[in-house]
Amino acid sequence: MEKIIIINGPNLNLLGTREPAIYGGKDFESYFEQLKSQLEQVELHYFQSNHEGLLIDKIHEVGFTYKGIVLNAGALTHTSIALADAIAAVDTPVIEVHISNVHSREPFRHHSYMAANCRGVISGLGLDSYRLAVLGLLGI
Ligand code: DQA
Repeated sequence: MEKIIIINGPNLNLLGTREPAIYGGKDFESYFEQLKSQLEQVELHYFQSNHEGLLIDKIHEVGFTYKGIVLNAGALTHTSIALADAIAAVDTPVIEVHISNVHSREPFRHHSYMAANCRGVISGLGLDSYRLAVLGLLGI
């Protein structure tokens, strides 16, 4: 079965309690269980870290064998050339996702170092951004 991984970056371990007016009240683990039961045609994996280097290591680890990566790099989206380079360095396509609409927020969230190296970007559709990114990677 084909494998897709969802990778969440800094502070996204606090989904459900972190700024619920922006990010909603659901924790990611519950959402992920729900998503897995909806998408039984793919082997879904999940990784979260608050550490840039661990995110880069994970991209290297899966980036030559997995069908796709769904990446919400959190604030590293707006700062990390190293993550942008990691995305460019691997074969596996990456979709950048954001729960909030970054373009309707502060100007420093409008720029992504990663976007140009990604297959696509989904922003502002809440947790459904992740499901839509997986469907995009599966081509359905
Ligand atoms: C985010 C948007 C980022 O600007 C922010 O730093 C996050 C979450 C989102 O999912 O909306 O941590 O990536």
